[in-house]
Amino acid sequence: MNEQRRLRVALLGAGSVGSQVASLLLKQGDALAERTGAQLELAGIAVRNLDAPRDVELPRELLTTDVESLIVGSDIVIELMGGIEPARTHILTALRAGADVVTGNKALLAEHGAEIFDAADQVGASVSYEAAVAAAIPIIRPLKDSLAGDRIDRISGILNGSTNFILDKMDREGMPAAEAQRMATDLGYLEADPTLDLAGYDAAHKAAILASLAFHTKVSLDDVHREGIESITDEMIEGARHAGYVVKLLAVCERLTEPEGDSVSVRVYPALIDRQHPMANVHGGNNAVFVEAASAGPLMFYGAGAGGRETASAVMGDVVSAARRHIAGGVGVGESPRLSLPVAPVGRIYTRYQVRLEVADAPGVLQEIAGIFNDAGVSVATVDQTQVEEGPDGARSRAMIVLATHRAREEALRATVERLNASDVVVDVVSVLRVEGE
Ligand code: HSE
Repeated sequence: MNEQRRLRVALLGAGSVGSQVASLLLKQGDALAERTGAQLELAGIAVRNLDAPRDVELPRELLTTDVESLIVGSDIVIELMGGIEPARTHILTALRAGADVVTGNKALLAEHGAEIFDAADQVGASVSYEAAVAAAIPIIRPLKDSLAGDRIDRISGILNGSTNFILDKMDREGMPAAEAQRMATDLGYLEADPTLDLAGYDAAHKAAILASLAFHTKVSLDDVHREGIESITDEMIEGARHAGYVVKLLAVCERLTEPEGDSVSVRVYPALIDRQHPMANVHGGNNAVFVEAASAGPLMFYGAGAGGRETASAVMGDVVSAARRHIAGGVGVGESPRLSLPVAPVGRIYTRYQVRLEVADAPGVLQEIAGIFNDAGVSVATVDQTQVEEGPDGARSRAMIVLATHRAREEALRATVERLNASDVVVDVVSVLRVEGE
């Protein structure tokens, strides 16, 4: 019997995900050998600070600050440092040295994916990144392999666990945003720089990765229209509830079919979701991804979208695949960005909107507002009016009007909002939110 092959595995980073991956590699050696046909030897763990506290106790002799020496001679390099540099340089070094790379670095792939994938293609190595999107949920491999023979028209989903946790706490428990943010931090859901989550960058990185795979087109962070949850107030959450909605940070990757040709729209923004929609029931740090494909129809993927151990599961799956490829030989299957569809600006999308206005409560006001929507070609579906203030003599002086539109083009809605802002009868355009998932 041949002696079992040994594969050297280098781990870069021992944060909340990295330390869990190290622990799994160390504890599950025999099980991994059965699945891969090779002994996976954790050759070392590159860290910035040898003495930093870790979620899991790791053998001191495996820790090193000498990343280059660890990479050279490794068969599989797992990059879980995050950030652009030095992660980018280390991954390029690993690929040029002939290693397969496993990474969870969504920012790097969304901003420098083309360079990384080209480098892998040149040497026939593989770059796997299941952990980069929606943590434990398998979504990269389904898009890259299982659905590669189908035409994907739309992906919509909740791709950021921490903002979902925060919005969910605000909605279901009436918790102030700051307190919910503190809890998300304690659970390890938020990125080291929380702006990445709160301003929608993290979801935008993930949306760019999914859109690239789904539409066989290079989509980078700059192509993604991005709005975060910083402007979402307790009052907006309450207003949404009153109208039968819940606010979710939604990512939408959509193929637009127009007479002038197909294009793609990729966007991240807080949106209203009907409380009956399955997405409204994605609670806590969970993620959900809905894929609409021409032949497969609608598919839903659901599960943990953040967390060290959960994300480590996705990393380990990629490590097993990389080990099998190393044993079997042959080149890694690269990306397929050959369709090269143009990316459309957000003004070209069609969706529904909810517009909340504070207005003067006087005769003719409703008619003027309806006229503004009509002139821009935006069709109003429902109107709800409530009195908000008593005048000095008890007469009504202000009212809150909530208008829901039919599907309209974003450009037309923007023109409407500009005219509402300029109108004498409108005291304030309180909020404008898209309504998705219907
Ligand atoms: N900060 C990320 C999130 C972690 O909240 O979803 C998982 O990518």
